[in-house]
Amino acid sequence: MAEKSTDQLSDADAHLIALDGVGKRYGNIIALSDITMAVDNGRVTCVLGDNGAGKSSLIKILAGLHGHDDGTMRVMGAERHFGSPREALDVGIATVYQDLAVVPLMSVWRNFFLGSELTVGRGPFRRLDVALMKQTAQRELAAMGIDLRDVDQPIGQLSGGERQCVAIARAVHFGAKVLILDEPTAALGVKQSGVVLRYILQARDRGLGVVFITHNPHHAFPVGDRFLLLKRGKSIGYYAKKDITVAELTAQMAGGAELTELAHELEQMN
Ligand SMILES: Nc1ncnc2c1ncn2[C@@H]1O[C@H](COP(=O)(O)OP(=O)(O)O)[C@@H](O)[C@H]1O
Ligand SMILES: [Mg+2]
Repeated sequence: MAEKSTDQLSDADAHLIALDGVGKRYGNIIALSDITMAVDNGRVTCVLGDNGAGKSSLIKILAGLHGHDDGTMRVMGAERHFGSPREALDVGIATVYQDLAVVPLMSVWRNFFLGSELTVGRGPFRRLDVALMKQTAQRELAAMGIDLRDVDQPIGQLSGGERQCVAIARAVHFGAKVLILDEPTAALGVKQSGVVLRYILQARDRGLGVVFITHNPHHAFPVGDRFLLLKRGKSIGYYAKKDITVAELTAQMAGGAELTELAHELEQMN
């Protein structure tokens, strides 16, 4: 466990993903500037920041939805500039978006294999291998510790946390090397959040590099190895776990001075 945190940024080739001075503009709006961070095998990199901080813009660059305007992105040693999400997926970068792209009335196993269905037979005799897909979905979910009574039930019947977990298990099954999670715990209660946090650690233990986006330092700190703090598109800190405490992380997030000012203001209103 002592080896869990690293902060070597010197050797970009050793990282799954290394961003160096990355910036992104939408017209006149500077959404991100000068962002440097790394994603590594078996590590969780947390990206923290308030609404509008640039978290989604950052993951869209990693996921291939948007190109960056400044700086470099190296993926497994090679400089990349993705033109589409397909390109990112092809090198093993899987993204689970907050509004999960699931079909609620379809079964868990259908959603698990959506777009990558297994078939049996050739030519006109080709058909879906339903038995194998059900069995595989069940096994993969069980391997992640997700115990569903029935993979035939509509995915819409699962809780938000369980749906996130199915999406994580799916990415692991289809060979993702990097797993990006955009605020997977934002809409969840305490218990459900705990379930999702546990699967983040499972994915890490299976060797994936995880990027965990959240605005909650109490969710980030226990699972993270590294923490990138964003504020209005800029990095206000990038820490290895050994260099920061949950209290400091919380204070930085809240913007200590602003909070004190607000407390004063509220007091005067009483
Ligand atoms: N497609 C877009 N066009 C113009 N501005 C955008 C677009 N996407 C994001 N922005 C702006 O970029 C900034 C960062 O947004 P975003 O990355 O969504 O932040 P977060 O996910 O941390 O809430 C915001 O000021 C937002 O309004
Ligand atoms: Mg966002």
